[in-house]
Amino acid sequence: MSGTTARTSHATTELRVRRGGSGDPERYDMYRVPYEEGMSVLDALVWVRAHVDSSLAFRYGCVNANACKTCMALVDGQVAYLCTARLAPEGAQVEPLPKRPLIRDLVTDTVPDDEKL
Ligand code: FES
Repeated sequence: MSGTTARTSHATTELRVRRGGSGDPERYDMYRVPYEEGMSVLDALVWVRAHVDSSLAFRYGCVNANACKTCMALVDGQVAYLCTARLAPEGAQVEPLPKRPLIRDLVTDTVPDDEKL
């Protein structure tokens, strides 16, 4: 017997995501997601919504062109674009922008007041 074993395990990591709407008690959900080097936090959130929790709310438009500016949130306490923030192998905590009115989960009202109809 050689003592070697074929490895078929897939890397995973964990996302800790703030959930709920304005006025709801503070709550975080944990999601175990497949991990690939270079993936974005947005990639992981899209995976969660497709495979685990279709109710998870977040915004994005251009995926990774950094053009639409709709995917801003806090990643490990820092303001970031979810589509360009690289997911670390040890995972990340994702929260809505703290200074914008919360709509739900990671979605905040980012339209300036003077641009509202
Ligand atoms: S999805 Fe467009 S800037 Fe992030």
